[in-house]
Amino acid sequence: MGASGGIGQPMSLLLKLNPRISHLSLYDIVHTPGVAADLSHCSTKAKVTGHMGPDQLKACLEGCDIVVIPAGVPRKPGMTRDDLFNTNASIVRDLAEACSKFCPEAILCIISNPVNSTVPIASEVLQKAGVYNRNKIFGVSTLDIVRSNTFIAQAKGLDVNQVNCPVVGGHSGVTIVPLISQCTPPVSFPQDEREKLIVRIQNAGTEVVEAKAGAGSATLSMAYAGARFTNSMLEALNGEEGIVECAYVRSDETEAKYFATPLLLGKNGLEKNLGLGKLLDYEADLIKKAMPELKKNIEKGEEFVNKKA
Ligand code: 2OP
Repeated sequence: MGASGGIGQPMSLLLKLNPRISHLSLYDIVHTPGVAADLSHCSTKAKVTGHMGPDQLKACLEGCDIVVIPAGVPRKPGMTRDDLFNTNASIVRDLAEACSKFCPEAILCIISNPVNSTVPIASEVLQKAGVYNRNKIFGVSTLDIVRSNTFIAQAKGLDVNQVNCPVVGGHSGVTIVPLISQCTPPVSFPQDEREKLIVRIQNAGTEVVEAKAGAGSATLSMAYAGARFTNSMLEALNGEEGIVECAYVRSDETEAKYFATPLLLGKNGLEKNLGLGKLLDYEADLIKKAMPELKKNIEKGEEFVNKKA
């Protein structure tokens, strides 16, 4: 949903290449017939359909197993993800409402920012509709893991395919907490280098926003990350075992109601929250520092849905 946008188009291409997908159903408010026609000529298995405008939400969503939502507007230089709230909150609310009607059993993967708030928004909407299942809503924070793996591999001269660094918390600024002490293979940095690395991971989205100089935020790397998470979800739904991804979910692991940690995925979505593991003191401190912002973002999302008209 948001298939014609900056993230939606490259992600749709990556998903069209995925042999686990039988039907790729594209939704947006503009251009979806063109994107769908174009993609449908690729000689891969997935059938592609394009759906445009709210009247076609039913046709788009019925029968979906997974719904991936990158719809919304991106940041411009100087903006935080929270500055997108006013526009994107209602987009996610309306799409979640449509999912509650037309595919209440589907897994929802939310990319639209601010993710820290849009996941609570979608959860509240589904709860009101009486179809909420906390194991089936995910905020896609995969790009934070992808960036951590890339930067660590570069710094240490490692094969990036072998690097896996969990990232917990949320998906904005200080709420992004990489757990470098739990990286595989194990890596260590002098304190000043480690601090620089963490700040770079937390600000990596802004690095792209600034480089794009007004033309938006990360689209290609986010499409890659979204396609990776969706593929992991598909593997798990197909019964493959041991599929683990970090994502932002309803959580009892900390005092924040929603929190990203490594998750074991299964046939019904989230199978087991693997929690924070053993933290070093500075990592526990980073999580503590993330809490006020994260809680504020969560409450803002919940209030948006629950406010009186
Ligand atoms: C990012 O991290 C767009 O939130 C996205 O770049």
